[in-house]
Amino acid sequence: MTQALVTGATSGIGRAIALSLRDAGHEVIAVGRQPEALADLEAQDIRSLRLDLADPKALRSLAELEPDILVNNAGMMPAMVNFCDLPEDDMQRAIAVNLTAVLQLTRIVAPGMRRRGRGHIFFTGSTAGHAPFPNLAVYCATKAAIGGFAQALRLDLAPHGVRVTEIVAGRVESGLYKDLLSEDARAAMYADNSAVQPSDVAAMLLSVWKLPKAVDVARFDILPTHQATATGSQNKK
Ligand SMILES: NC(=O)c1ccc[n+]([C@@H]2O[C@H](COP(=O)([O-])OP(=O)(O)OC[C@H]3O[C@@H](n4cnc5c(N)ncnc54)[C@H](OP(=O)(O)O)[C@@H]3O)[C@@H](O)[C@H]2O)c1
Repeated sequence: MTQALVTGATSGIGRAIALSLRDAGHEVIAVGRQPEALADLEAQDIRSLRLDLADPKALRSLAELEPDILVNNAGMMPAMVNFCDLPEDDMQRAIAVNLTAVLQLTRIVAPGMRRRGRGHIFFTGSTAGHAPFPNLAVYCATKAAIGGFAQALRLDLAPHGVRVTEIVAGRVESGLYKDLLSEDARAAMYADNSAVQPSDVAAMLLSVWKLPKAVDVARFDILPTHQATATGSQNKK
């Protein structure tokens, strides 16, 4: 059975991906921190591992796994403030979770895929990695780095039959802003179909995975229809 390792599987996009992969018959290992959300996944035939991706020692415990699919999805949004006012801790944590942990986990998993001559690594990047947003300089920097890493890694792994896909997501309705914006502000942000649903991203990932192994989708962009540009300019009638 194909084994998939999904980070950030306790919420939003990662949870939808974990459930879709399970529905498609894969053995799924879900990584996250929230115990209730992990227990809920366990109850749905998904093995869960509770760990803080910002802890490099905890990450090394994943070395025994040999997944065929790695979904580097976990991420966090630091405070949305002018860069000059961003607390140092926020900056370090965003870099640790959104970038360092992604590189470390990929370094743990990719050599096995190269040796076995198969595998697929997905990265949840963002439109914020490809266009500037005010008050998000560090988030943009981490996602731009993910984009560069994914595209270059693909060149290293393609000769060995391992595929690499960067998911460039626009606005998706998830828990990403739950500690940053009020419930009302989040509801307004997601009103009127102005966000992609996590299940839409999961459906795309599954379609990409199912393509013949000789086909490698280097990147796909998935945005709400009305988010006509990466930075959100509306293009309404
Ligand atoms: N929502 C959007 O509009 C959007 C757009 C573009 C890209 N993205 C990207 O999509 C990815 C998924 O985010 P989401 O939108 O689905 O948000 P979400 O609902 O907040 O999910 C974030 C996930 O990351 C996990 N996570 C965060 N910090 C972690 C840590 N230190 N250790 C382990 N797990 C950690 C969370 O798990 P725990 O809470 O259990 O720790 C959670 O499962 C992120 O990389 C985000 O940057 C989102």
